[in-house]
Amino acid sequence: MTASQRDITLRFLAEPQDVNFGGKVHGGAVMKWIDLAAYACSAGWSGRYCVTAYAGGIRFIAPIHVGSLVEVEAKVIYTGKSSMHIALEVNACDPKSLNRRQTTNCIVIMVAVDQNGQSETVPQWIPETEADKQQHATAIKLMGMRKQIGEEMEIFVD
Ligand SMILES: CC(C)(COP(=O)(O)OP(=O)(O)OC[C@H]1O[C@@H](n2cnc3c(N)ncnc32)[C@H](O)[C@@H]1OP(=O)(O)O)[C@@H](O)C(=O)NCCC(=O)NCCS
Repeated sequence: MTASQRDITLRFLAEPQDVNFGGKVHGGAVMKWIDLAAYACSAGWSGRYCVTAYAGGIRFIAPIHVGSLVEVEAKVIYTGKSSMHIALEVNACDPKSLNRRQTTNCIVIMVAVDQNGQSETVPQWIPETEADKQQHATAIKLMGMRKQIGEEMEIFVD
């Protein structure tokens, strides 16, 4: 097992195939990019194959136009025994002007698994800077809030 890179940025152009009926990039395409970046980030941190356990808190702040230069930034903000909580931010700009703006953000939880799909231990990430410590504390707070949301949502489960 080799590790550990805490963050990663994917950079590419939004292509015509990503566009919805309104002429902007499809929300599903953005979610796919987020999932890819979360995978690359968690694999880079853990040195293991990882699966997506949870994605939430997604906000589509601004649309992305076809031909935009897209940057998907992913970074580890908390590690459990086998899980890695990844904060993601999507920024986009016209490649001619480079006036970068945030379009989406969310949290994804990835879990390292072995060949049988069983969860595996990951290296621990220890926050160092003040900003890291705040994000780590927020990740812990969000865990409690998700538990509460999960309990509330049980009413929709048959
Ligand atoms: C993710 C998965 C491996 C977890 O399996 P599990 O039996 O719950 O495993 P564990 O009980 O050992 O939990 C593993 C970790 O996942 C976390 N986890 C599991 N489900 C979670 C959820 N819905 N939200 C947040 N964290 C979750 C646990 O808190 C635990 O974290 P920790 O080890 O850091 O304490 C399993 O649910 C799975 O395979 N899900 C499908 C994944 C998938 O197909 N994703 C889409 C394509 S990649």
